[in-house]
Amino acid sequence: MCGIFAVSGTQRNAGERVLEGLKKLEYRGYDSWGIAVRIENNTVNTIKKVGKISTSTEIFPEGTESLGHSRWATHGKVTQENAHPHRSGKVTLVHNGIFENYTDFITPEIQKNLLSETDTEVIALLIDTFLKKGELPEEAVRKSAQKMKGRFAILVMIDDIPGIFAARRGSPLILGRTETETFIASDIPAFLSETRIVNYLDDGEMVYVKGNTLQFSKISTGESLIKRDIEVPWKMEESEKGKFAHFMIKEIFDQKSSIASAINHSDEDIQKAVKILQSTNGSYFLACGTANKVCSAAEYFFANQAGRKINVVPSSEMPNFEKFIHQKTALVAVSQSGETADVLEILERGKAKGARIIAITNVESSSIARIADVHLPLRAGPEKAVASTKAATAQMALLYLLATADAGKITEGRQTLLALAANVNDLLNPRYEEKVQIIAEKIVKAPNLFIIGRNALYPMALESAIKIMEVSYVHAQGFAAGEMKHGPIALIEEGSPCLVLGGDEETLMNAMELKSRGARIIGVSPKRSEIFDEWLKVPEANGIQSIATIIPVQILAYKLAVLKGLDPDMPRNLAKSVTVK
Ligand code: G6P
Repeated sequence: MCGIFAVSGTQRNAGERVLEGLKKLEYRGYDSWGIAVRIENNTVNTIKKVGKISTSTEIFPEGTESLGHSRWATHGKVTQENAHPHRSGKVTLVHNGIFENYTDFITPEIQKNLLSETDTEVIALLIDTFLKKGELPEEAVRKSAQKMKGRFAILVMIDDIPGIFAARRGSPLILGRTETETFIASDIPAFLSETRIVNYLDDGEMVYVKGNTLQFSKISTGESLIKRDIEVPWKMEESEKGKFAHFMIKEIFDQKSSIASAINHSDEDIQKAVKILQSTNGSYFLACGTANKVCSAAEYFFANQAGRKINVVPSSEMPNFEKFIHQKTALVAVSQSGETADVLEILERGKAKGARIIAITNVESSSIARIADVHLPLRAGPEKAVASTKAATAQMALLYLLATADAGKITEGRQTLLALAANVNDLLNPRYEEKVQIIAEKIVKAPNLFIIGRNALYPMALESAIKIMEVSYVHAQGFAAGEMKHGPIALIEEGSPCLVLGGDEETLMNAMELKSRGARIIGVSPKRSEIFDEWLKVPEANGIQSIATIIPVQILAYKLAVLKGLDPDMPRNLAKSVTVK
């Protein structure tokens, strides 16, 4: 949520480089953007714009240092005034997160002089106040960070002081280094074209960067820290669209290989996680959005494979049940980004109570990965489209493997998943995409779409609705197949499109009930049925039909968005990585 990026180096086009880096982080927020460049006389020149940064071809003044921000609005409307960077006195600053106690620092006098409605401007003000009191720049940043409550990552430039200060608590910040320069970003893709050598800034740490010199220290005590260079395995091509029109369809096609990569863990690593599940007295699976629907599918995997009842709660609702977390509780966090605030907060409080934590994330350096006792990376490659696709199926594959390992049947679990991975590889081809396109054309004008499924296909019906709504803005709703007749069937009219996930006898009976009332039935199943008006064939996948079935729906959502002239990668009002509650 909000992308921040800075460069301190030797090349004189720092502004353009920050622009290019921020474009690669745009999935984190795209309401407005802004970039500041340190110019010749050591002052700072700032440009701010409302709208998406991807369309910008702005020219910046020359300078070797620059910082910038792509915003997802939290405090204050989407206006140029509220766009970052914010400035106070000699301080220019960008911020990802929420300064929870910012109002404590606003007197009526200060209020009169504020230029924006943001919490961020108050951070700049705080730092500038410390500078005016004679604090050294690093101390002014440290003392301000110490006063801030909430999660944050900040990048700071101060007039007359070369270099960039960065500090974080909760929100991510990663440094990329070459022999002459340093990049600081909320996420690795921003600088992947420049370097794969990184340093991670941990929670409660700050750094002063000048060219390729870095001074790390603790925010709380000022104690110096030494960091190790790490080479990240990500490849540049993985975070580019390549021949695809959008990241969303590229990432859907990445599922040709990502399902197999997700389960490429040794039996020993999987057993470490299983041991936690087996040595505790109950588990909560914590996730948000699509990842939460994935966990609901896992509820069926664990019940059917291992006879284990797991608790699945959307993380934002978990505070109601936190009283049940104790030393003998397993918390299983499932998150693509590994930064989702609602998940992270429960984990932090759970850890303090002694609960054991298993994390499944796609970002190995993420906060959720780092807090876990056992982390199982998804290895799906960067996912940049806001709508989660390949991460979702990778999560389901890994959770299914865990469930079978829990039942002592990991080898069979692996075989089933690898067979599915091979079938998905065959399924994803241009001809199949065209079939989905034809169906999308037939239903694109419908105001409502209903989706039904039974067993683990029920959470997939819910996930299908999320996918379709979030990218195509068509109202879609998922139901347990047997529940339609308990109310929602009243909405069915002549021609209402209904996606029927699965082809078992009972679901087909429910489909028939809808068809008899005029519904247009689109079946997504391994076998054709005469009830279907349209049919999308999916591979047979015993126990993991959910993984096979969601893929054509992802394509359908994508096609609906494109047919409506929308940008499926950056749907309105959304952001990829939700680091605020
Ligand atoms: C946002 C994204 C969703 C995602 C959810 C959870 O809402 O738009 O696609 O499912 O966050 O994100 P996570 O990174 O924790 O999986």
